[in-house]
Amino acid sequence: MKQIHESEIKNLIKMAFEAKERAYVPYSGFRVGACLKASSGAYYPGCNIENAAYSPTNCAERTALFRAVYEGEREFDAIAIASDSGNFTFPCGVCRQALAEFCGADMPVICTDPKGQYKITTLGELLPNAFLPKDLDI
Ligand code: THU
Repeated sequence: MKQIHESEIKNLIKMAFEAKERAYVPYSGFRVGACLKASSGAYYPGCNIENAAYSPTNCAERTALFRAVYEGEREFDAIAIASDSGNFTFPCGVCRQALAEFCGADMPVICTDPKGQYKITTLGELLPNAFLPKDLDI
């Protein structure tokens, strides 16, 4: 796992919880926040944004990722995720794949519960053998 300091973990968790407040969730009522740290040092918070047609819903993790990529970021150090669930919130399968395009398998993924307790894993543990640009063989 890429090294990450305790103070950085706490900071990312705080920003993920703040991002959760911006969730647009009229259908599920399930608020999620994420905060992605780019290697540039910049932070990209994101929230889930739902849609009346349901499937266009965007998860918090992808909102954070797409904001960052739009700003020119291509390398990332860590992500934290927060929700109101009583359980630890891990990224969904689609977000794991979206993150794998830009984030290394060793990138820490910090999953919290509502009390702010956390579990750290890596993207590689969450999505082994991700389909990557190299797999296109072009
Ligand atoms: N959601 C996220 O934003 N991130 C996750 O990791 C899991 C699910 C959102 C999608 C939807 O708005 C709501 O949570 C319920 O699935």
